[in-house]
Parts: sequence; structure tokens; C-alpha cells
Amino acid sequence: MGLGLVWLAAASGLLALQPGLLGLPHVHPGVIALTHAWVLGFFVTVACGAVYQLAPVALGTTLWSERAGWWHLGLHGMGVPGMVAGFWTWNLPLLGAFGTLVAVGVFLFAVNAWVTVRRSRKTDPVAWSLILAPAWLVVTVLVGLLLAANRATFFIPADPVALLRAHAHLGLVGFFATLLQGVSFRLVPMFTLGEVPNWRPVKSGLWLTQAGLLGLAPALAFHWRAASALFAFVVVVSFAASGWGLARTLATRKKRALDPGLKFFLCGMAGLALAAVIGFVLALPTVPGGSAAGGFNAMVYGVVIVAGGLLPAIGGMMCKIVPFLVWMRAYGPKVGRGPTPPAGSLARPWLHRVGLTLQWIAVAPLVYGVWFLDIELLRAGAWLLAIGVGFLIADLVGVLRHLWRPLTAPAAPLRGVARTGVSP
Ligand code: HEM
Repeated sequence: MGLGLVWLAAASGLLALQPGLLGLPHVHPGVIALTHAWVLGFFVTVACGAVYQLAPVALGTTLWSERAGWWHLGLHGMGVPGMVAGFWTWNLPLLGAFGTLVAVGVFLFAVNAWVTVRRSRKTDPVAWSLILAPAWLVVTVLVGLLLAANRATFFIPADPVALLRAHAHLGLVGFFATLLQGVSFRLVPMFTLGEVPNWRPVKSGLWLTQAGLLGLAPALAFHWRAASALFAFVVVVSFAASGWGLARTLATRKKRALDPGLKFFLCGMAGLALAAVIGFVLALPTVPGGSAAGGFNAMVYGVVIVAGGLLPAIGGMMCKIVPFLVWMRAYGPKVGRGPTPPAGSLARPWLHRVGLTLQWIAVAPLVYGVWFLDIELLRAGAWLLAIGVGFLIADLVGVLRHLWRPLTAPAAPLRGVARTGVSP
């Protein structure tokens, strides 16, 4: 989580300093560097950290190997900055070398997740998402390495832009969507005191995504326009099924008021559904679908995915899980031996409410700026996003501080929360 926050600061800082990057074609090396700073630096780092901590809780077992997790952190920590530098300077040998470190780390992560799930003997959609999402991540990084090698020698007889699209969707749909379509159904009931009333839409969502992506990836790679649109539609339907499952789960909640973290998580899920519809429209054979800058194009799609979907979904969920995990680590062992602060008192909700709101508002100028190539709006959106990120980071760093400086005297108890209880 800490490394993810460092990358969040770096990626939003880079965007604030170079907002003009979003006005370039998305295949520009600077844009690809920025993309990987966001997806590999922030989103993948946080998602893997969350899996290491929450998969054992969700599966009722222990993590197979903490040591492999530390190796992954080290390899990822070294590999991603080198990769971003490799993209930025378009130094393909550098990219390949550091990308290999990232790939080895991702492989360790996947094996750890698979063995942990296997030992739990669970076979529900949450367990399946913890098998499938790491598998897609392994495929994504391997294809990424292949693309880097292909950029040097052009040995694959296909359009590099089409291959890029296949790789991007393997990561975005295969890893992030699959993970969210599974683990959300453990996290949301846990944080809202609800339950999943019917697993059928959850299962349909998860498996339709797998079917859609299995068709979408080759269709994108080989420029089969009609097939791309068809499989993109399957992914849209899968998101609708998961959304329906989520709405039904939320309807059972006992905690009626949703706190800011969860509200933004849900906004992020809606943003991802909107992005899926945009992706489907872009895939239609009647839409030009080139990679030139300006207009309704892949860059609009990318901004909606990153700033309108993944950022609120993952940032919002971090506001819930980071205090919970920090409390478990810093104060859990002290329960029964003395007073401990309630988990809910670790965060300062106003900070992340302001932060997430500013980030959400920033999506409008960013999308408009990308569409109409308006540099002033791009700059305004990028700065708004960076300021919002600053608030979010300030809150989460304050929570993480309890790990190395735990409170020795009890914090003022929150009304209605047991003094020693974990309040999700
Ligand atoms: C070892 C890890 C990885 C390597 C070596 C790698 C490599 C690459 C390369 C070479 C490209 C540009 C392709 C071209 O121009 O021909 C690219 C684009 C892209 N990659 Fe990766 N990648 C990796 C991991 C990931 C992951 C995990 C994700 C998402 C979860 C991801 C998402 C993307 C996206 C969205 C693009 C398109 C960027 C744009 O159009 O601006 N990559 N990657």
C-alpha cells in the first residue's frame, strides 16, 4: 500500500507537470510511460498488496508464502521505475530487463495466490477470481515482454497498435475487472454488514468476462472488427450482471449510510461500466477507431478507465481496507490486554472525502480536454486530480503511521462503536 501511494504521487505529479501528454496519440512513448506509472505503479501494486492481506481473510486460511510476497515487493519495487524510465526514453533493452524483474515478481504473486486458494479448498466466485485474475496478469506481462521485443525487431507479422490493444485489455479486463468482479462480493458485504443474496449474477458476471476476453484479445490483436465488437458486448453484459449482483448485495446491508470510501468505490464501478460501453462503441466496425489524437478515441476511453473507473474504485476501497488492515496489525494483538482505538478512528474521513471528490470532478475537464485537445482544460484537470490525490495520500499516510507509531492511550471512542471492536 505504501509503495502504491508513492506511485500514486509520482503518476499524478507527472500528469500535472506534463498535462500535454494527454493531447498526444496514445502510442507515444511518454503516454505509454505515464500509463504504466498508473497501472503498474499504482493500481497493480495496491491490488497485489490487498490480495496478500485480504485473500487469506476472504478464504479463511493463511497466505502460502509471506517470503515470496516480500520477493515480489522487491522485484516490483525495482522493476517498475526501470520500466517507466525505459518507456520514457524508449530504451527497449532497459524496458526488457526491468520488465523481466516485474514478470518474475508477478509469477511469484500468482503462484502464491493459487496455492493459497487451493489450500483453502474454496470454489466460490471469490476464490475463482483469485485464481483467474493473477493468471491474466501473468499473461499480460508475458505479452508485454513479447511486445517490447517485437518493437525492437518487428518479428510478429501484425499491426503493433492492434497488439498493444490486446495487451492492454488482457491487463485491464483480465486482471482488474476479474478481481473486482470476485473480491467485491466479499468486501462489500463485510464493510456494509450485508450478504450476497444470490450468487448467480456474480458467477455469470465473472464467467462472461472470461468468455468475452478469450474472444476479445485475439479479435483486437488481428483487427477483426466485428468480432471485437461482439466480444466487447459480452464484456458489457458481464459488467451488467456483476452490477446487478452488487445492487442486490447492497440492498441487504444493515449499515444503511454508505461512507465516502464505499460511495467512491461504487462510483468507480459505475465508471468502469461506462468505460466498457465506450470500448464497445469504439470497437464497432462503423467507428474509425484510429490512434490519432483528438475526438472520440482511445484516449477518452483510457481517461475514463483510469480516472473515472479504477482510481475511485481502488482509492475508495483503500479508504476502507487500509484502516482495517492497519488496525488489525497495530492493535489486533493488544485486544483484551488494554484499551485500543476503534478502527474507524484511524482515518480522517473529511480528508479522503475532499480528495476523492476533487479527483472525481477532474474527470470532466480531462475528458473534454482530450476530446477537444484543449491544453488549458487538461492542465486544470491534471492539477485538480493531483490536489485530490494529495488529500487522499495525506489521509492514508496518517493511517499507515499507526504501524510504526501506535497510540498508547485510547483515542476518544466513537459513539456506537465498541472500544475494543473492529468496526468495518
Ligand atoms: C512486464 C510488464 C509489462 C511490459 C513489459 C509491458 C509492455 C508494454 C509495451 C511494450 C507496450 C506498448 C506496445 C507498443 O507500443 O507496441 C504496452 C502498452 C500498454 N500496456 Fe503494458 N506492459 C507490461 C505490463 C502491463 C500491465 C500489467 C498492464 C495493465 C494491467 C499494462 C497495460 C498497458 C496499456 C493500457 C498499454 C497501452 C498504453 C497506451 O496506449 O498508451 N501493461 N505495454
